[in-house]
Amino acid sequence: MTVFGDYIQGDALESIARGEQGDAAYHSLELLVGLARAFHAPHLIPVSSVQISGVSFWNLGLEGLEYLETLAIDGRVRVPATLNPAAFNPKAPPAGVSHSDVENQARVVAAYGAMGVDTTLTCAPYLWGNLPRFHSHIAWSESSAVVFANSVIGAMTNREGGPAALAAALTGYAPYYGLHLMENRAPHIVVHVHTALSGALEFGLLGAAIGQRTREIPFIILAGGQSEPLTEDLQALGAALITFGGAPMFHMESITPESLHFPVPTRTLEVTAGDLAAVHESLSSPGEKPQLVLLGCPHYGPSKMAALSRLPLDIEGLSIGTAASCNTLSCGGLRGGCAAVAPLPSGVNRIATNSVKAAFYLKNRGVSIELLSEAQCLALGNRSEEP
Ligand code: F3S
Repeated sequence: MTVFGDYIQGDALESIARGEQGDAAYHSLELLVGLARAFHAPHLIPVSSVQISGVSFWNLGLEGLEYLETLAIDGRVRVPATLNPAAFNPKAPPAGVSHSDVENQARVVAAYGAMGVDTTLTCAPYLWGNLPRFHSHIAWSESSAVVFANSVIGAMTNREGGPAALAAALTGYAPYYGLHLMENRAPHIVVHVHTALSGALEFGLLGAAIGQRTREIPFIILAGGQSEPLTEDLQALGAALITFGGAPMFHMESITPESLHFPVPTRTLEVTAGDLAAVHESLSSPGEKPQLVLLGCPHYGPSKMAALSRLPLDIEGLSIGTAASCNTLSCGGLRGGCAAVAPLPSGVNRIATNSVKAAFYLKNRGVSIELLSEAQCLALGNRSEEP
């Protein structure tokens, strides 16, 4: 017990620390207490929801897979926990992936499943049943989901690493520091947006434009007359914000639930239409008609997927590859995968997307990008427009 010092408070933690809840819970507690000490957290705090990254076998390797399978011997989640996308869904592997990689990826997902993790393979768990309450303490790890949870839901989470999130799921606790404390959630800079925005593409450009200029938590004031952002707009904004700058949350005047909780900062940042155009130009390049259209980064929820499934899209031919939570669509190799790391169909080197985050990662992989609005992307994948 002494190895954990004062971090053991309450019957549940005492039982884990005595080893009564099995090896996986004990070693998870070791990891969490180590993190708590490193970040000077005064104690651990119960969490009500977990979201776990670290799913791709290509990142985990055999060692990571075997570690997960060892935990799965007696490790069982104590709170609802969902799983991030992998590079690909082993139930719908893309062409060209080796049999052994498909098998190993399936073993990774199975190990999480054996521990009781919901193997949703989504980075938008809040749209698929893992929806925390306002000011509940949670332990999430996928960057765009962390920003959405902190900003739009008002739940409280640090950006946990995959092993720490899994440890939180297996114990029900996380170190109490960072964004679990109200004082660390205050905005430090006001962002005045001087142009009206429409759709996920433009909100993503805003997130990138802010992230390029500050890493601090922004208080965003949209232009006068701006219509209320949709959920997918706020997803896109948060995903780009943390990708380009690292801020784990934002406040938005009259939109996000904690926007009234703090004094408005005095320092300001101005964002104009020209700033958004500059981000667009840095990511998107003119060229041939894209061979693939990528939507759903961050992942869509069920209602959006159902709406897409009713459109005459050439999904099976992968002229549109709707990434990720394509649980209601047959969209080939990208189903259940992540736009950033999914293996691309052979010969694809130019992609259209409305996601600034996906554009950033794909461009870094050497792919030529055309950043378009969702409507323009859908028009490219529309069968009825084919000759
Ligand atoms: Fe989700 Fe992957 Fe995009 S985790 S936010 S689909 S880069």
